Amino acid sequence: MLSSTSANTATVIPLHSYQAVQHELEAGLLSDAAYTSPKYFYDAVGSVLFEAICVLPEYYPTRTEAAIFSTHMADMAHVIGAGGTLIDLGAGNCAKAARLFPRLHPDQYVPIDISVDHLQDAVRRLQQRFPHIEMTALGLDLSQDWVLPSEVREEKRLFFYPGSSIGNFEPAQALHFLRHLRSLSGDEGGILIGVDLIKEHSLLNAAYADSLGVTAAFNLNLLRHVNRVLGSDFDVRQWQHLAFFNPEKSRIEMHLQAQADVRVSWPGAHRNFIRGERIHTENSYKYSINSFVDLLASAGFSTTRHWTDENGWFAVIYAKAA
Ligand code: AVJ
Repeated sequence: MLSSTSANTATVIPLHSYQAVQHELEAGLLSDAAYTSPKYFYDAVGSVLFEAICVLPEYYPTRTEAAIFSTHMADMAHVIGAGGTLIDLGAGNCAKAARLFPRLHPDQYVPIDISVDHLQDAVRRLQQRFPHIEMTALGLDLSQDWVLPSEVREEKRLFFYPGSSIGNFEPAQALHFLRHLRSLSGDEGGILIGVDLIKEHSLLNAAYADSLGVTAAFNLNLLRHVNRVLGSDFDVRQWQHLAFFNPEKSRIEMHLQAQADVRVSWPGAHRNFIRGERIHTENSYKYSINSFVDLLASAGFSTTRHWTDENGWFAVIYAKAA
């Protein structure tokens, strides 16, 4: 199942079969309260739209996290220590991890992403800049069960999970995911994770319903991705972006709402949506530092340090295998 594409640079583990992917998508769309996985946001257009979201004035997480890293990088490196294996979960263009290299000096860098092609290009470029770091790129869907191949060194594994991607998991799934990381950490491993914090609701709402409509385009684009994967006939113009903070569940919810009665067909099935009916496309959970530290403790990590911005909007947390 493993295919190495070149000497010591990239290993690709194929994703679940296309049929399994179609089946999973179909089950969500046919369920009474229709839903899709947020992984369907990230096709070629969606990945570019997400990069645009990250530079929007309303979308504070990316720039706030980046500021925390630039202000506290030396301190972080001091606490974490140099060397070891840096495992980048959802690496994308690898830019966030690359900023750690000059301080953390990992012996091996293991970027993991669902979108392998994107990843391979980034890793090839990065390998030229840092020829002494062994790089092993993995194509993995982190929302499914996953394991690390034997190419990944066991020495001092640091799981790097920035961007508050953990917010996409239900809290119970987040715990499961963190426990899985703990089981892969060994006793000298740890985790460096970015967590978006609970804040004034108007700020949260604006971050997911920006005035240019970029997040709306990002959400609607999912339908085109689904059309390609499933062979369905969603018409983007019949749907509307909806995003709001749900305080009971401490999460941003994103939905697509049918603007009229809509019939959607694909090979082997169809679904009728009545006007106003929704497809739930994403949850983005927001935590307090304490609630997240508790979650880490339940997963078997002891929190060593956390760093935050002056507004307390975002936190970067380092925890060690306890
Ligand atoms: C990539 C999951 C961290 O939840 O803020 C941004 C995705 N969705 N705008 C988030 C997202 C809408 C983002 N994460």
